Amino acid sequence: MKNVTITGWGKCVPQSVVTNEDLASVIDTTDEWITSRSGIKERRISHVNNSDMATLAGKRALAAAGLQPTAIDYVIVATCTPDRQIPSTAAYVQTKIGAPHIAAVDINAGCTGFIYGLSMAHGLIATGAANRILLIGSEQISSYLNLEVRSTAVLFGDGAGAVIVEASEDDSGIKSMALGCDGDGADHLTVTGLGTELVGADEPRAIVMDGAEIFRGAVVRMGDGVVAAVKDAEWELEDVDLVIPHQANLRIIDAIRRRIKVDEDKMYVNIHKYGNTSAATIPIALAEAVDEGRVEAGAKLVFAAFGAGVTWGAVAFQWGDRVEPIATTDEELPEPTQTGLEILIANQRVLQK
Ligand code: UT7
Repeated sequence: MKNVTITGWGKCVPQSVVTNEDLASVIDTTDEWITSRSGIKERRISHVNNSDMATLAGKRALAAAGLQPTAIDYVIVATCTPDRQIPSTAAYVQTKIGAPHIAAVDINAGCTGFIYGLSMAHGLIATGAANRILLIGSEQISSYLNLEVRSTAVLFGDGAGAVIVEASEDDSGIKSMALGCDGDGADHLTVTGLGTELVGADEPRAIVMDGAEIFRGAVVRMGDGVVAAVKDAEWELEDVDLVIPHQANLRIIDAIRRRIKVDEDKMYVNIHKYGNTSAATIPIALAEAVDEGRVEAGAKLVFAAFGAGVTWGAVAFQWGDRVEPIATTDEELPEPTQTGLEILIANQRVLQK
């Protein structure tokens, strides 16, 4: 089996910022409540389709790896907010990025989607079924936010992160994986009013969550996942340079840190800027961590996530030698013509349909 590593990384977050104060102008909430319960200060709201964010993140990852789009042979998009139910978001990304005819598929494991995607990319490359995969976690979750459901409307945001996954020529790459799902918890975190089910399809669209149950599950599953992945990699927890956890709640991240007993500076946090971008949090955080110099050559990283399903997963990953992108692209999203709050309010009319 081949070693499987990451050679390119990139993110795309839309320009429009919605602060807690902005939300408090239209929802019965406060900056104090949101900050103290979640650590979130602001989030981005997209004026373009999910596939547009995914495509730009993918182009940035390709540039970082020094690759043309035609050098990849597979696109996987982890998302639970596809542009359309049919076709896959990956099909749109494949054509927008300029990689004709290559395999393209979406996967949905809620907020754990990127970790599941990494495990699938690992399998495809390790067995030789694919050579170079563009793996993207991308979400336009603002489309599901119902301003009348304040307990979830304040927690999420839009964005995309991408990596290039390929066989490694050195010792770097995925060292272990620990994944799981408990379908008994399926209704603990769900989007109502969207889907083909025979009962419930006419409910208003909203993210509905048993917050306390999800909180507890996230702490236990992500914490234990990190420990299991580290053990399977034959590392010690003290050897880990940086844990990149799913960004759902700062209190969850702090509780995991206390559970596994690692120092604060070894837990990557950017939730204050973006909120919970679901399957996009880890690839966005990874791209930021590398660009900020938080990932050194040969660094021992652990990614951990928990989400709808309920699903969980952790990956022990040893970074390679290169911490600088080979190239960058100056492509940007078009300028928005509405504020983020205006987009959110406009979405409410769509939710009523
Ligand atoms: O990626 C995986 C997905 N999500 C997560 O991992 C999130 C997991 N859960 C959580 O992060 C937390 O459970 C929440 C942030 C969702 C909630 O925090 P909490 O400390 O568990 O608050 P709570 O649900 O117990 O609510 C406390 C109070 C309630 O009022 P009463 O009944 O005590 O009077 C809520 O009605 O806070 C009220 N509340 C709000 N108040 C102001 C709920 N949402 C809001 C709001 N603003 N936005």
